[in-house]
Amino acid sequence: SRSIRLAVIPGDGIGQEVVAEGLKVLGAVLPAGTKVETTEYDLGARRWHATGETLPDSVLEELKGHDAILLGAVGDPSVPSGVLERGLLLKLRFAFDHHVNLRPGKLFPGVKSPLAGEPEIDFVVVREGTEGPYVGNGGTLRTGTPQEVATEVSLNTAFGIERVVRDAYRRAAARPRKKLTLVHKNNVLVHAGHLWTRIFERVGQEFPEVTTDYLHVDAATIFLVTQPQRFDVIVTDNLFGDILTDLAAAVTGGIGLAASGNINPSGEFPSMFEPVHGSAPDIAGQGKADPTATVLSVAMLLEHLGLTAEAARIEAAVAADLAERVDGPARSTSQIGDALVTRVAG
Ligand code: NAD
Ligand code: IPM
Ligand code: MN
Repeated sequence: SRSIRLAVIPGDGIGQEVVAEGLKVLGAVLPAGTKVETTEYDLGARRWHATGETLPDSVLEELKGHDAILLGAVGDPSVPSGVLERGLLLKLRFAFDHHVNLRPGKLFPGVKSPLAGEPEIDFVVVREGTEGPYVGNGGTLRTGTPQEVATEVSLNTAFGIERVVRDAYRRAAARPRKKLTLVHKNNVLVHAGHLWTRIFERVGQEFPEVTTDYLHVDAATIFLVTQPQRFDVIVTDNLFGDILTDLAAAVTGGIGLAASGNINPSGEFPSMFEPVHGSAPDIAGQGKADPTATVLSVAMLLEHLGLTAEAARIEAAVAADLAERVDGPARSTSQIGDALVTRVAG
């Protein structure tokens, strides 16, 4: 028998609602001999208002003792933008060196999309997770004056690029189509862009079986909408990856279906799984949020922990549920969760 130590951070807004459903499905899918010990952490807007804390060092330490983290979403209109996003979510990604941010873009059969058909839309974005403009390198001068200047410097290290690029090549080599597309903007961002391109080409020599391709990010947005089938694995930087994966979600059934994993491949620190979407203040508290992205993130978590069969059962349950949604009535967050529980248990 085996036990999974799972840290749960529901966070803000719909984060609370969707994580509850994710945990229900997790409880239902686990084999009899496998226990899950969950520790829930009260982090997010409520905690910040009450104590001023975003992510106390003591909590960061405790989180290290877990096998994985499940996160809902953070961010709330009552908290200045960036406080929770940087102080909690990005702090976790940086502290736990989640340099591989995996974001699948898969159109499940039966899901409404003008692009549905053959070949299938089934790609994965490998988004760098610890560098780029996300590092917080910048500042303002002459703040508040008409002469104010703001900089936001993108950090790109050869080490950081090489490790995520190699990870993406490995993933591409393991997939049937074996194709890897680098997305950047090396016609304008010549410093970082050329470093990415050089490393991409050099590491590619280790993977002669992988077909490679390069797109500027603006053109990549065209093809994600008009021809998403052309993509297999995409590797890109932190900010481009953020933007492309919301777009990818939109072409594969919507943001309510998009899952992600913030992976620390060495296993030195726990990896963290979360839906791609945010706390959705516009629908929070109404039972309208689709928990499917979180449920699929739970599947990625199980896959990461080696529970491959259970991950596949969740994917199959989601696929079956989606195939029946097309003409069905709108369901609440918990109704969708319950339906998925029934399917994984049955
Ligand atoms: P958002 O993803 O929260 O919402 C964008 C739109 O998608 C909204 O109309 C929302 O209702 C809809 N949506 C999102 N998830 C949905 C779901 N599961 N089911 C149905 N509809 C869904 O993005 P935003 O509005 O830009 O950001 C809101 C807050 O969330 C901000 O504070 C932002 O910083 C934060 N955020 C957090 C994360 C995260 O924690 N990983 C990710 C993105 C945004
Ligand atoms: C995401 C979010 C985060 C990001 C924000 C909230 C920091 O948009 O997970 O996609 O930009 O990475
Ligand atoms: Mn995003």
